[in-house]
Amino acid sequence: MKKILLFLSSLLLLLLPACGGGGKSGGSGKRKWIIGFSQCNNAEPWRAAMNKALLAEAARHADELEVILMDAQNDSAKQRSDVENLVTRGIDLLIISPKEATPLTRPVKKVYESGTPVIVLDRDIDEPAYTCFIGAPNKPIGEMAGKYAVKLLGGEGKVVEIMGLQSTPPGRERHEGFLQGIAGSKLEIIYSQDAAWLREEGMKVMENALQAFPRIDLVYAHNDPMALGARRAAEAAGRAGEMKFIGIDGLPEEGVKAVLEGKLDVTFWYPTCGKEAIRTALKILQGEKVPKRIALKSMAITKENARAFLEKAGASVPGGKGEK
Ligand code: FRU
Repeated sequence: MKKILLFLSSLLLLLLPACGGGGKSGGSGKRKWIIGFSQCNNAEPWRAAMNKALLAEAARHADELEVILMDAQNDSAKQRSDVENLVTRGIDLLIISPKEATPLTRPVKKVYESGTPVIVLDRDIDEPAYTCFIGAPNKPIGEMAGKYAVKLLGGEGKVVEIMGLQSTPPGRERHEGFLQGIAGSKLEIIYSQDAAWLREEGMKVMENALQAFPRIDLVYAHNDPMALGARRAAEAAGRAGEMKFIGIDGLPEEGVKAVLEGKLDVTFWYPTCGKEAIRTALKILQGEKVPKRIALKSMAITKENARAFLEKAGASVPGGKGEK
């Protein structure tokens, strides 16, 4: 009898960890937290950089957590089902960088109201139905860009604006901020079109602008891919030398490189929030209180400070140590 009891209790001990809530075990034997991360489009460079930063930070905490990443491939309907899918897989916390505000508000709210913590990154939704929002404020970035445009043109000139998707808050706010930045100057926006954040679309918008306007002094694009697409179109038309180019994002291998090569006059750094997302997720999971909004800083990157910016970011510097 004693032997049977001993056998049954050791069997129970063996089975117990397997019943513990569905999560996996870390090195310490503790259950790992599962974080679901819904990314709106892996294919864009800034999003790839965000994924890289987020997964690198997660790898530093591999004993405590695990990330399941889902790519919505730039489709709000797919992103809605990705969120449902992640919930079904039993996540402890959701991180989402939504493609658009309105279609994703309800699904995010549902997760949050069911008691699962939610962190929203970079593109806000229509209601603050989440634990925490992390991003760099976009209106001030637009305003800085506007003021910089006034400076570049000496207070007067014709501007083409290539907008990010207007169903996303950064697209709307980068536009509103720019208007504030140029207010009172003689800068005139002669053409303003949505190019959905995409390089190819930016190129097409610019081709139309080049056909319609014999004089363009400056292109303000809401991100670097669209600014570089526009520059490409202007180069093909033999007109790039006539105008200045402003972008936003400041990725080392994209915007900052373009500034150093003289393809962009300025870009504004838009931090990817990947590292902060994991750090904040850990705090929430450990029961710590976090602010409702975490605002990351931006800055202008020009030829003057681009190298210093790259050094600080730990990125390789053209012409620097180890480079020719
Ligand atoms: C990538 C991106 C970035 C931009 C951000 C705005 O999808 O378009 O280039 O800064 O999203 O949300």
